[in-house]
Amino acid sequence: MKNLLKMLDLSSEEIIDILNLADQLKYELKHGIPHPHLKGKTLGMIFQKASTRTRVSFETGMYQLGGYPLFLSSNDLQIGRGEPVQDTARVLSRYLDGIMIRTFEQKEVEDLAQYGSIPIINGLTDFCHPCQVLADLMTIREFKGSFDGLKMCFIGDGNNMANSLIVGCLKVGMSVAIACPDDYQPPKEIIDFAKGYGDKFEMTNSPVQAAKNADVLITDVWASMGQEGEAEKRRKAFAGYQINDDLMAQAHSDAMVLHCLPAHREEEITEKVFEAHANEIFEEAENRLHAQKAVMVKLMAN
Ligand code: CP
Ligand code: NVA
Repeated sequence: MKNLLKMLDLSSEEIIDILNLADQLKYELKHGIPHPHLKGKTLGMIFQKASTRTRVSFETGMYQLGGYPLFLSSNDLQIGRGEPVQDTARVLSRYLDGIMIRTFEQKEVEDLAQYGSIPIINGLTDFCHPCQVLADLMTIREFKGSFDGLKMCFIGDGNNMANSLIVGCLKVGMSVAIACPDDYQPPKEIIDFAKGYGDKFEMTNSPVQAAKNADVLITDVWASMGQEGEAEKRRKAFAGYQINDDLMAQAHSDAMVLHCLPAHREEEITEKVFEAHANEIFEEAENRLHAQKAVMVKLMAN
């Protein structure tokens, strides 16, 4: 494992290895056991989109590992004025030990990895959000004990979260059902991958159908970053694609609910369901820290 660009690149064994290390680092942090695996190392964090969790968890995580994080807003970098990513990659590789980048196009992240010589971590693109899904898998295993026999259901937009959840959940052995409106399905590359898992993958436009006997229900915003101009159109297209009490009644009675956050109450999830599952959702947010520390150690430790 040289980079974390997308869940499609990871083997099932690599995912489980990261989750095991994340559990260990969480234990060490909670018990005051120092774990300075990245002492003296630097991580550049390039942000072309807003962030609360990704920025703070990477920054704090790097500090806890003994390293130094640099926040690099694209507004202040030459990349924001058109310097090619190929050049940025080759320059930053000479200063830093790793780069985390949040941007629009997946190609930009892949190019950074191709031209740079240090590990690249995808902190969200329009295509995927692997760091979030590693934290989600960590949280599912923490609450459910194992992935065996579990069904994950995703309701809403076939977006970056849906893409990474489909791949990640199938790779660890879960069944996956997604319910998206016809015009908002995941890209062909993801659907083709999922079809390889036979009847462990189901795609429908009926949230009720997808939620039947689910163990984990997940949703995300109807309009992602960069799609603000489509918000009104999307509000109409996604009406009914909501996690609410009626939908929860389709799932197992002990089903958990996750949301990567930020959440829009009464759009993709009701306030009532959100608050009933707040302990899971905020553990998920915390687990960003532990999962990303594990990724950084795997990629950047000597
Ligand atoms: N879930 C997530 O990535 O949150 P931020 O956008 O706040 O980083
Ligand atoms: N799909 C959302 C996820 C935010 C963490 C977005 O891309 O804005």
